[in-house]
Amino acid sequence: MQNLAQRLDLIAPSPTLALDAKAKALKAEGRDIINFGIGEPDFNTPAHIGEAAIKAIKDGFTRYTPADGTVELKEAVCEKFRVDNGLEYKPSQIVVSNGGKHSLYNIFLCLFQPGDEVILPCPSWVSYAPMLVLAGATPVLVRTSAANGYTITAEELEKAITPRTRGIIINSPSNPTGMAYGHDRLKELAAVILKNKLWVVTDDIYEKIVFDGFKFANLPMLEPALYDQTVIAHGLAKTYAMTGWRIGFLAGPEKVARGAAKIQSQTTSNPCSISQKAGVAALTGPQDTVTEMVASFKRRRDLTLSLLAEIPNVTCPVPQGAFYVFPDVSAYFGKKDGNTVLNTSDELAAYLLEKAEAAIVPGTGFGDDKTLRVSYAVSDEDIKRGLGRVKEALLALK
Ligand SMILES: Cc1ncc(COP(=O)(O)O)c(C=O)c1O
Repeated sequence: MQNLAQRLDLIAPSPTLALDAKAKALKAEGRDIINFGIGEPDFNTPAHIGEAAIKAIKDGFTRYTPADGTVELKEAVCEKFRVDNGLEYKPSQIVVSNGGKHSLYNIFLCLFQPGDEVILPCPSWVSYAPMLVLAGATPVLVRTSAANGYTITAEELEKAITPRTRGIIINSPSNPTGMAYGHDRLKELAAVILKNKLWVVTDDIYEKIVFDGFKFANLPMLEPALYDQTVIAHGLAKTYAMTGWRIGFLAGPEKVARGAAKIQSQTTSNPCSISQKAGVAALTGPQDTVTEMVASFKRRRDLTLSLLAEIPNVTCPVPQGAFYVFPDVSAYFGKKDGNTVLNTSDELAAYLLEKAEAAIVPGTGFGDDKTLRVSYAVSDEDIKRGLGRVKEALLALK
């Protein structure tokens, strides 16, 4: 057998997608698995968005579009940034891709190369580090703490910078913690980033899913001098319950967008023409479904936090956004299930899947071993049943 390329050895499969596959397989076997594992809204895509896609098919809008997206969708994206963020972009500064993940990979390929270090505050979403590695760059993980709301401080950032540092990734609200950067923290970071001439990649995919009056901001909104060194990664998956449609986009300096467009023209070509029409409907149509979904997420976050609070020795900060909570379960390490000692979040998550039939991602996938990531994008009923079983299973450990 011929050998495969060595780059395959550099990364592992996404642990969240792997857990989701396992949960679905167990469910198919008839197990009553409650899936807190996947980062996906459980709502249907709003009807008017689906109708725009059906119209696109009926109208024969089924051919190649420009590789970096239709002008119509890029204009809708520019309008979104103008209205929501007060940021001015031209369509030539936008590239529409096959999801936010694809946008991020394009961005990394454009900005970073072998020898470059990129600062990644962690715990962080599972795919940043592998995608940076595939781009040849070195992720530099900077551990953040629950006490600081899982945000990197200016001091921690300064300390991590070396002559090889080229950029930093900010994800707010964050997957996996749900925590978001306050404006003061971002302004402090902006000063360090400007001084050190770093690229900022800001992943704003959870921008609209915020609670309790939290006011979202990203770095260029607060420090306009950063506009020329920032690339925003965004997408429709989470805000509009459009995970399967695969529409993401980037906005940044023209040279970055043109670089990403060039890569896309030689690799994937355009994202699905029908999804792009749906994307225009999502961005320009009524937004009341977003408000309703966010209200449901807020109710479920509160329910999830109150049920976790009933489990002895589990601690959890209150997240401002996304649909995740990130409880510290390390008080249960060292306890036994029969003769087996559970020492890590991986072992605890495996135990909870088996014993409580609750699929929950261990914190290790995100670079933290004391925690679990609970996605509460499931029904209130399932949250109650699932976390009730989790409590029982944890209390059964000796
Ligand atoms: C932080 C973050 N960024 C990007 C993405 C990618 O989303 P998609 O590629 O589905 O648009 C996700 C999805 O889980 C995410 O959690």
